[in-house]
Amino acid sequence: MGASGSGKTSMRSLIFSNNPASLTSRLGATIDVEQNHVRFLGDLILNLWDCGGQDAFMDSYLSTQRSTIFQHVGVLIYVFEVSTHDAVKDAAYYRDCLDALQRYSPEAAVFLLVHKMDLVAGDRAALLERRTRELQGESGTVPITVFGTSIHDETLYKAWSRIVHTIIPNAAVLSKHLTTFAQACSATEAILFERTTFLVIATSSPPDEAHPEQVNNDLSPTRYERTSELIKALKHSCARMREEFHALEMELPEFTAVLDGMTRNTYILLIVHDPTIETAALKINIRLARPKFE
Ligand code: GTP
Repeated sequence: MGASGSGKTSMRSLIFSNNPASLTSRLGATIDVEQNHVRFLGDLILNLWDCGGQDAFMDSYLSTQRSTIFQHVGVLIYVFEVSTHDAVKDAAYYRDCLDALQRYSPEAAVFLLVHKMDLVAGDRAALLERRTRELQGESGTVPITVFGTSIHDETLYKAWSRIVHTIIPNAAVLSKHLTTFAQACSATEAILFERTTFLVIATSSPPDEAHPEQVNNDLSPTRYERTSELIKALKHSCARMREEFHALEMELPEFTAVLDGMTRNTYILLIVHDPTIETAALKINIRLARPKFE
């Protein structure tokens, strides 16, 4: 949910329909609610409701459609345009939605996206901090998670990976298996991505826990979402050349990376800093581990 033009349909089309950011300017306003059923990880189906944000629709969600819209909600994602023209109206609608959510789905997680951060010229971190404090004030006692996002960089993937992670039932078990697998491969890290969205589903535990000797490796804090963004762009280029993306191998002086299909719905990325480990060995390990992860 969120005001009209805040960017809801754009992010949906980028993440779930694999459209490039450049095409989002052609999207028309969403009329009422657009429902999507996205098959996500085998039997897990994500039921995504994109609620058009024009005032007439918002008024209807909060009155006649109230119980339909707010019942059985797993996660509420509310999008705020960072440089909104009418912050007071935005805040009023948000509070009304939160009230309705508290009444019909009190267990739902609440994610707030301060969107179009690319339009901020000054200090983005400071602005996000201030908006987060304001939104916490608006939300009262309801726990919220706030992200600054933009369709033009990796921030959107970070937010959506976290959102999806909250609704994956066995995420902790997956992480445990990935840690074991990473150790078996002498890998610094193993990361599992969903096949179509390329959102991060689970990662092995941070290398400092599994491999104390690898703490010195310079791992960027944005590496997961950057990978999602880059691979999505690569897949898009492949599609334009009428080729299909299958797998990727990189052997650099500092590290080796292997990205390959793991299960019907996932890809795995192995990052290895030990120069004695051959990529062929990593690929064999992935092949042998497939039945276990499937
Ligand atoms: P309704 O369907 O009316 O509720 O609007 P919406 O929230 O779905 O907005 P939509 O996704 O249609 O986006 C409106 C405009 O914002 C489009 O022209 C997008 O290209 C633009 N937009 C979306 N995300 C971003 C972003 O992160 N940065 C910038 N600069 N523009 C964005």
